[in-house]
Amino acid sequence: MQKKILITGASGFIGSFLVEEALNRNYQTFAGIRSSSSKQFLNQPSIKFIDLDYTSNIALDTLLQKYQNEVGKFDYIIHNAGLTKAKKNEDYFSVNYDNTKRFVEALLRNNIVPEKFVYISSLASYGPSLNLKPISPDQIQQPLTAYGRSKLKAEEYLYTIKDFPFVIINPTAVYGPREKDAFLLMQTIARGLEVYIGPKNQMLSWVHVYDLVNAIFIALESNVVQQNILVSDNKIYTPQDFNNIVKSVLNKKTLSFTIPKFVLKSVTNAFEFAGKLKGQVPILNKERLKEFEAFNWSVDSSALLSLGYEPKYFLENGLPQTLEWYKTNGWLK
Ligand SMILES: NC(=O)c1ccc[n+]([C@@H]2O[C@H](COP(=O)([O-])OP(=O)(O)OC[C@H]3O[C@@H](n4cnc5c(N)ncnc54)[C@H](OP(=O)(O)O)[C@@H]3O)[C@@H](O)[C@H]2O)c1
Repeated sequence: MQKKILITGASGFIGSFLVEEALNRNYQTFAGIRSSSSKQFLNQPSIKFIDLDYTSNIALDTLLQKYQNEVGKFDYIIHNAGLTKAKKNEDYFSVNYDNTKRFVEALLRNNIVPEKFVYISSLASYGPSLNLKPISPDQIQQPLTAYGRSKLKAEEYLYTIKDFPFVIINPTAVYGPREKDAFLLMQTIARGLEVYIGPKNQMLSWVHVYDLVNAIFIALESNVVQQNILVSDNKIYTPQDFNNIVKSVLNKKTLSFTIPKFVLKSVTNAFEFAGKLKGQVPILNKERLKEFEAFNWSVDSSALLSLGYEPKYFLENGLPQTLEWYKTNGWLK
């Protein structure tokens, strides 16, 4: 019988690819979105949409019971909805922690716990490695940002529930078609500028969205429960590696410069001051700066490799594929 899967945050970058993969794997696929969400990348006719209101116990109970009566229990849930940019630090906690907790409590209260509940967290809940070893699942988690702390709080909550069949996915920076943040780096290079912020020999990790989505389904379909799974393409890159590949694919000459530490500090202070006046967290703030400057963001993905995960994309072939998508879709000239 066709298994039923609910994917929350389906309208976002990663969520839209999770939905595609679920359909490819022949799951009956329910896409959790909001009335305001874009359906631009959710156009397959077999997708069933659910508008879950994670802020209300009554609304959650009503909708979950309705689906339980109409189609039965979801066999799998991937809780991918999350806030990655917020005006106020409290918003990270109310979406990434409070909503997750309320959602899981509703599943428990209504006795509709799935076979597996996959929580999409982030490498930010670990923070960087404090030595030269890659970040590993058993490392003490010391997030540098409110975003990372909100994800960690949700993870810690999951570990308190006895016998709940969850697995936590901690992806490093994700790139690929439809992505908007790494795209800004590529766009800057396309405009002839190459900007460096952190140390030049920084140890960075990346994962292509196709590999991440495959890794998530490997974890979902495995016997692994109550575990964190870190995901990268299992390689270590410097910031120049990324820029050099983009330059070569775009055939661009660039003006390269490193922003000196004292300039960065003053700019960050100015952003923080303006943020205080507006009552908002500025895009550049002291916590983000610490993330940019942290030396070692490399990842130990061995738990995933032992489950049969084989990344197919590395920056060498993943960036050309991604840049091609941006060009074909008019994001880059
Ligand atoms: N991209 C990365 O590099 C990366 C790395 C590590 C972890 N992650 C995690 O992966 C997940 C997906 O990230 P993404 O990059 O795909 O982000 P995204 O494109 O911003 O997508 C976020 C999704 O979450 C939904 N969402 C946000 N706030 C919500 C709320 N209050 N109620 C209901 N839905 C809400 C959004 O719905 P709308 O479309 O309606 O706004 C959207 O579908 C997140 O949990 C993120 O923390 C991402």
